[in-house]
Amino acid sequence: MMNNEENKNLAHRQHVKYFMRFLNVLPSSLSSHDTTRVTIAYFSVSGLDVLGSISSVSIEQQSRIIEWLYRLQVHPNKQNGDMSACGFQGSSTVNIEFDSEQNHYRCGHLAMTYTGLCILLALGDDLSRLNRQALIEGVKALQTEEGNFSATLSGCESDMRFVYCAACISYILNDWSGFNIKRATEYIIKSISYDYGIAQCPELESHGGTTYCALATLSLTNQLDKLTLDQIEGLKRWLLYRQIDGFQGRPNKPVDTCYSFWVGASLKILDSLHLTNYANNRSYVYETQDCVVGGFSKWPDTCTDPMHTYLGLAGLSLIGENGLLEIVPTLNITKRAHDHLKTLHEKWACES
Ligand code: FPP
Ligand code: ZN
Repeated sequence: MMNNEENKNLAHRQHVKYFMRFLNVLPSSLSSHDTTRVTIAYFSVSGLDVLGSISSVSIEQQSRIIEWLYRLQVHPNKQNGDMSACGFQGSSTVNIEFDSEQNHYRCGHLAMTYTGLCILLALGDDLSRLNRQALIEGVKALQTEEGNFSATLSGCESDMRFVYCAACISYILNDWSGFNIKRATEYIIKSISYDYGIAQCPELESHGGTTYCALATLSLTNQLDKLTLDQIEGLKRWLLYRQIDGFQGRPNKPVDTCYSFWVGASLKILDSLHLTNYANNRSYVYETQDCVVGGFSKWPDTCTDPMHTYLGLAGLSLIGENGLLEIVPTLNITKRAHDHLKTLHEKWACES
């Protein structure tokens, strides 16, 4: 569609418009994501933040987004005070009032809680309407004996993605009482594969996305020193070999824009991103840019989506692309949003 010569600069204005559209309407092509709307809002709001364009969202719209998120916060059970379902829901679609005492659909989901908190931070909210204790109890209820986390009480998936989400929530709320760090670290170390990459669960295939979740968790919990030198060197090697021009998620698979973030941020956490070829990485990501309508896709000449658009920008930010704000690789939010979080932590420390 776009030849490389025309498409090697950031289509900044188009990307802002692209994200703004997703804040107003969920296109029918994404209707299957209706129950995870919070993640789409996160890609859009954080995307605007990386573009330095949060102010493109009017103050009125920002407060509508904030109110919407607080409505998705699941509060303790009114009858018995149980907090195990607390967290954020992904949308209000299943918020139907039942006659029965409890609506089993009304429960938080770790990925929605994590991304919901990230949006609130990017919009400068003071998090004062969170029930922080309840959110932490909600996290605690989801850690398994093995040390990993389920996504939600009503579901059964449990893997490295939700270990990461639980770590981000605990870090943001500055409260680790719902997250057993020792057990989670053991789970992560058990999930290191024979090739030194890290998988969703022990015995599974190493993957760039899950390696990111594991390394970011070890960094947020200050446990990177639990890795042996061999493991660190093996991990760096495994990650560096994922670069073709852009990055792939695992050996013998095609490169994909999102891994410029997942693998790039993993290398950044290990202080080794500088060992990659920035020009080739950058050039691949730009091949997936739609500079007319805005957005990035995973492969050249395919459909753009908010996730690859956000992760493409975040990946470019990691290698210092002009016009983009700095990203904190562990939390996947801007340094600007993280600085705001630090002021909240200081405020909470004074209050307690
Ligand atoms: C595709 O698998 C999977 C992804 C593109 C997602 C990978 C990212 C993660 C696991 C991290 C998720 C993080 C959170 C916080 C939920 P595939 O088999 O289609 O792709 P492949 O061929 O590139 O391996
Ligand atoms: Zn992808």
